[in-house]
Amino acid sequence: MGRDDRPYHVPVLAAEVVALLGPPAAGVVLDATFGGGGHTRALLAAAPGIRVIGIDRDPDAATPAAALGEAVTFVCGNFREMTGLVRGVGVDEIAAAVFDLGVSSHQLDVGDRGLSYHRPGVLDMRLGEDGALTAEVVVNEWDEASLTAVIRRYGEDPHARRIAAAIVRARPLRDAAELARVVAGAVPARSRRGAHPARRTFQAIRIAVNDELGALREGLESALSLLQPGGRIAVVSYHSLEDRIVKRRFAAGATGCVCPPDLPVCGCGRTAELRLLTRRPIVPGEAEVAANPRARSARLRAAEQVAR
Ligand SMILES: C[S@@+](CC[C@H](N)C(=O)[O-])C[C@H]1O[C@@H](n2cnc3c(N)ncnc32)[C@H](O)[C@@H]1O
Repeated sequence: MGRDDRPYHVPVLAAEVVALLGPPAAGVVLDATFGGGGHTRALLAAAPGIRVIGIDRDPDAATPAAALGEAVTFVCGNFREMTGLVRGVGVDEIAAAVFDLGVSSHQLDVGDRGLSYHRPGVLDMRLGEDGALTAEVVVNEWDEASLTAVIRRYGEDPHARRIAAAIVRARPLRDAAELARVVAGAVPARSRRGAHPARRTFQAIRIAVNDELGALREGLESALSLLQPGGRIAVVSYHSLEDRIVKRRFAAGATGCVCPPDLPVCGCGRTAELRLLTRRPIVPGEAEVAANPRARSARLRAAEQVAR
């Protein structure tokens, strides 16, 4: 449990992840984003003989990991350094891997890192203590053009220019709730229906602070090179930028010979390293979204390693 006895995190698409990974009876499974361990718990329930290596940047995740006992080895670190982290606990090859990207409910609910636009908190937004860049630096020191670019690119917010200008005018900003108010004030009234008007800006700054897209590219690459033949990987993403990276990497891996069809013999020598297990992303059903609104934007893709 997190503080206030709220659950640390309710896992998203857990049954679907387990079904796609089809965890082996034994072997090592990597949970690259351990959080509250919801996916690990579901995997252990389906395959009690596995050993799980759970990685998370957030040292808070060590507590739910410890509660799962000896089946779980928790490693605090960034999954972009996965190869070294996994080898560091004596493992060279994994049978399956799951990534459940983004932030946990615990990280949003405790509010002391400025990740939530709903409550006060220092403008930090780092998911772990290893990062050097904080939201306070982005918000107070980056020039207006860079801020606009980040909000447009990582938040896909059509009002990026107005929001960046409002942030620069309001400097210095020290608190997340204060930032949320400034952003909300910059968004035209006609666009304020639906999600909170600061949602996209908070997402954008968090992605920049944690270099989330760079970490995803590197983490995916490492996981694929650690996967044994026949091993499976599942990734749950929460916005189109993440999903696009996963989709493209899986599609590239699943592409075999690229010779023109009229060539009698293959000259490119290329063979597919992956087999796609999901042609289209799996999304949560209505019941899951009603029970857990944070599942709303989730998309699950999976693939199987076929060769090295
Ligand atoms: C959505 S939560 C995972 C929840 C987990 N699957 C569960 O069921 O409880 C995402 C987790 O990934 C972690 N995380 C995000 N980026 C990371 C990275 N680059 N390296 C390691 N952990 C990361 C966050 O700290 C967070 O705890």
